[in-house]
Amino acid sequence: MAKTTSKTKTVYICSQCGNENPKWAGQCPACGAWNSFFEEVVQPEKPLPAMVADPLKRTQPKRLREISAESEIRQSTGISELDRVLGGGIVKGSLILVSGEPGIGKSTILLQMCMKMKDLRILYVSGEESPRQIKLRADRVGEYPENLFILPETDIAAVVERTEEVAPDLLVVDSIQTMYRQDMTSAPGSVPQVRECTSELMRLAKANEIPTFVVSHVNKEGAIAGPKVMEHMVDAVLYFEGERSSDHRILRAIKNRFGSTNEIGVFEMTESGLREIINPSEMFLLDKPENVSGIATLCVMEGTRPIIAEVQTLVSKTPFPSPRRTAVGFDYQRLNLILAVLERRCGLFFGASDVYVNVIGGLRLDEPAADLGVAVAMVSAVKDFVLPEKTMFIGEIGLAGELRAVSGIEKRLHEAASLGFTRCIIPARNKPKGSFPQEIIPAYSIKDVLNKI
Ligand code: TYD
Ligand code: MG
Repeated sequence: MAKTTSKTKTVYICSQCGNENPKWAGQCPACGAWNSFFEEVVQPEKPLPAMVADPLKRTQPKRLREISAESEIRQSTGISELDRVLGGGIVKGSLILVSGEPGIGKSTILLQMCMKMKDLRILYVSGEESPRQIKLRADRVGEYPENLFILPETDIAAVVERTEEVAPDLLVVDSIQTMYRQDMTSAPGSVPQVRECTSELMRLAKANEIPTFVVSHVNKEGAIAGPKVMEHMVDAVLYFEGERSSDHRILRAIKNRFGSTNEIGVFEMTESGLREIINPSEMFLLDKPENVSGIATLCVMEGTRPIIAEVQTLVSKTPFPSPRRTAVGFDYQRLNLILAVLERRCGLFFGASDVYVNVIGGLRLDEPAADLGVAVAMVSAVKDFVLPEKTMFIGEIGLAGELRAVSGIEKRLHEAASLGFTRCIIPARNKPKGSFPQEIIPAYSIKDVLNKI
């Protein structure tokens, strides 16, 4: 028996990783985030909710061969790009997190999905918008299905109760940051609330086998607002992202218990909701200036996610004795290092030129695998020739000019293939496993790369 006491205590919880500390600290010792601790009052007498409160309902162990794989039957969402990212549709009883910045289109895609799944009984819980606002959005995106119910609610207990009453085939909760448990002191959106509400929804989804989509906003660092434990709890985490200035949206799975995380779904935000882009490579290449020197495409890993980036460079003669080097989205020291390698190992001279490097889309390339792309873009700029189309450059450059192996080469190659790249130049030391549709050109050094393009 746990000892009960009426005394409350204060702990500090990191909003980035959920780490608990007895004392406040400027930097989280677990994840290294700065200024992420906030105070939380704990009532120790409150027992932790058990997975199933009723002991009679507790699950029993089963023989593996007696377990039916029925739960693997997938339900199509009616949106093929979404099905693809989910690994072929929705698995019964799964909890899927859809996260992204506010305004990116999370509510839109989920509402569109609900409206396409006409045969299902669906409950859409909205803590952010009124039913009228949802109706206005629905008017833009399609026809109303018969069995779509809208519930404006933020109290998680009420959500659970109504869900059990309505007994839907699918549940959408928009968003987790607006949900709260009445018996907890912290504000909606705080780490404990988000964690508890997520586990409440998890129980609901598993106990009633209702597939559940949960919307979660991300903060400006791109992390899911709330503890990392939320990511660990759910079955799949989908990121919906895109630039504010462009209508293109990319949906990708960063975790999927029922499928691969290599697939992406591409959409365009239109007047009447999101439109699927069946051939994303064309869309991607549309934005890219053609027949211009100094531009290269590369692929970096953002955590577990491969992201394709375009780097633009400009090299121009300067009359001044000390030329300028400007890098936006790329490390300045790294830029100087690559310039030195190009000078010493490839005989290219940048000494009397200003060099500008810009990564498109506000991305920051913090990873050494971006070196090769930046280097070839600069060579292309200084020699004024256009790099071959649909070619991607991946590799870290060493001081001897050698190409060093990079991690996650398969993921990068899959991403390149899914965006229509037909040639990938990679370090010869990387030996990618599996088969890839594109031509893969191994290279030993930056000089070798320049000979091969
Ligand atoms: P929304 O789905 O509300 O974003 P989120 O739920 O991620 O916060 O998307 C809102 C944006 O999408 C808003 O700027 C308006 C735009 N939009 C369209 O351009 N066309 C449409 O048909 C709809 C419904 C929204
Ligand atoms: Mg929304």
